[in-house]
Amino acid sequence: MSNTRISVMISGGGTNLQAIIDACANEDFPAEIVLVLSNKADAYGLERAKIAGIKTKVLNHQDYENRQDFECEIDKALKEENTDLVCLAGFMRILGSSFVTGWKDRMINIHPSLLPSYKGLHTHKRAIDDGVRFAGCTVHYVRPEMDDGPIILQAAIAISDLETPESLANKVLEAEHKIYPEAIKLIAQHRIKIEDNHVIIKDMKTPANILYSPEITE
Ligand code: GRF
Repeated sequence: MSNTRISVMISGGGTNLQAIIDACANEDFPAEIVLVLSNKADAYGLERAKIAGIKTKVLNHQDYENRQDFECEIDKALKEENTDLVCLAGFMRILGSSFVTGWKDRMINIHPSLLPSYKGLHTHKRAIDDGVRFAGCTVHYVRPEMDDGPIILQAAIAISDLETPESLANKVLEAEHKIYPEAIKLIAQHRIKIEDNHVIIKDMKTPANILYSPEITE
């Protein structure tokens, strides 16, 4: 079976993009990146793509009169590359509902929280301020509502006493770099079905262990 053709949309450093590039470098990985699209010309992720020999495109939202025109160009660029799956990886523009609906069940995102908690920005600071014991990250299908949509994969990270938003961001990012390629792999292997806004994974392995925070010693 041929590889799933993915386009990655970024606005910044692209560490998640790098994790996907690295995963795709493995010849058994069932997907390949056909395009990296950024709305910022100085996004470091573009360098990462160039180093890996991947086609890049910059579409600056400021060059368009309105969001619809901007999104129309994005749509065209994605279709020109016969994109099967769009991966948002730190793409910092809100996408309109007609664009999102056009890519329904073919566009995924990574968010640095255990959705549906902490949608939006500054997720790590908000979690620490609330005193919750677990933070995390989520890969989900994109729906018109921000940070909404069927959840594919999550990772939970315990928040320590001395946690700062920066230290937590580093731990969460490490997990992001694992779950994003894994979610892409599940989709590319056709192991995912969406029913009633739920993701059903064929042959899913559910971890048996309960994670306690703080640890329970007895
Ligand atoms: C990540 O924290 C991701 O969860 C969020 O934006 C950040 C992108 O980081 N959507 P990077 O550009 O992949 O390093």
